[in-house]
Amino acid sequence: MTTWSPTSWRQKPISQVPVYPDQARVEAVERQLAKFPPLVFAGEARELKSQLADVARGEAFLLQGGDCAESFAEHGADHIRDFFRVFLQMAVVLTHGATKPVVKVGRIAGQFAKPRSSDTETIDGVTLPSYRGDIINDIEFTDSARIPDPERLLLAYRQSAATLNLLRAFATGGYADLSRVHEWTVGFMKGSTAFPRFEELADKIDDAISFMRALGLTPENTPALRQTAFYTSHEALLLGYEEALTRRDSITNDWYATSGHMLWIGDRTRQPDAAHVEYFSGIKNPIGIKCGPSLSSDDLLRLLDKLNPQDEAGRITLICRFGSDKVREHLPRIIETVTRAGRTVVWCSDPMHGNTVKAANGYKTRPFDRVLSEVHSFFNIHRDMGTYAGGIHIEMTGDDVTECTGGGVAAITEANLKDRYHTYCDPRLNASQSLELAFLVAEEIRVQRPARRAAAS
Ligand code: PEP
Ligand code: CO
Repeated sequence: MTTWSPTSWRQKPISQVPVYPDQARVEAVERQLAKFPPLVFAGEARELKSQLADVARGEAFLLQGGDCAESFAEHGADHIRDFFRVFLQMAVVLTHGATKPVVKVGRIAGQFAKPRSSDTETIDGVTLPSYRGDIINDIEFTDSARIPDPERLLLAYRQSAATLNLLRAFATGGYADLSRVHEWTVGFMKGSTAFPRFEELADKIDDAISFMRALGLTPENTPALRQTAFYTSHEALLLGYEEALTRRDSITNDWYATSGHMLWIGDRTRQPDAAHVEYFSGIKNPIGIKCGPSLSSDDLLRLLDKLNPQDEAGRITLICRFGSDKVREHLPRIIETVTRAGRTVVWCSDPMHGNTVKAANGYKTRPFDRVLSEVHSFFNIHRDMGTYAGGIHIEMTGDDVTECTGGGVAAITEANLKDRYHTYCDPRLNASQSLELAFLVAEEIRVQRPARRAAAS
């Protein structure tokens, strides 16, 4: 057995790697990245792990979401602000529903590299390498655009830093102040079915804030009312980039990924003896494992042994993405495996990745009903098995896009998909669909929660 180091993944078989024509330039860029400042700090990652430990114990709820793939073209203050507002709205709906803290983790400030099911893409008889995310190549369907370009690593790092800077300001600089809850609604959402419900909730929060003010607790003297903790996450697919940003924490001497607070392993790269799992086994951040239908119970146990030998609470989040038609077949088996082994995990539902379909007009979409159905089954199964459904992981945007059918302001049909189909990879829930989903999840959590009165008697 070799000992772990940030480079030890290089000795293992690896999948989903881009082939760069200029390898020397890749190495030069990686050396440069290795000198750049960390994007997040080890102490913040530890704080998130401890909050996820609360989720594992059933004392908090995890909300994780953002773009499927961040892009260089969509990068801008408005895009980040609109995402953050809807995310806050969802979080407040869930906090109210759960009467528990909501741990907020964005798929943002680093979510650039995409695993692909095929190495090539064919359009009208022309075959080119697949788009692998803006950190690797360009989405434009031309020969030159699809060549992996190492300069993109630097651009992705700089965009992540700028995004994180704005998010930190939003989270702590007054934007997340609960007395501004009415201001989080984006204009176009006013026609949404979820809007009146949100306004009603915002009125209740206003009342609660007035009551607390009368007691002397104000946003000015009570930080919990005026700021929030917001964390970042992404799929750690591009290990050369991750390696360059892996640093030793000066306090504990442990290794941490500093490209984001939480990293996850994708469904296509979670082979227990391969490179990605090797990399993840040595970093101390909280990590996610995507669990799809092909995950065997044996492999799951091997992954838990390798990635969390001490069974530390908060270290592992199992992000379950089976599909609305397969969740009943696979989730009970996975829960039983974990429970029998006496393992501690956060159970999180990704109701997006198992529910992608091709519309008749060729657009990749996700029917909102199937998303809701998977979430509903996820909660029901946990309720039946006595485990805690601890979170949701979604692909969403604050923009008024038409990427998933159903739900929203006016139910999106397949014919509408072309109107505002802007995603760089998978279809995202728009702002209205995201808020609608949050209300549904809040109801599921409420049913899951033991009645307070019954519990007290
Ligand atoms: C993703 O989260 O965008 C993704 C590719 O997921 P999965 O690995 O579950 O397919
Ligand atoms: Co995706």
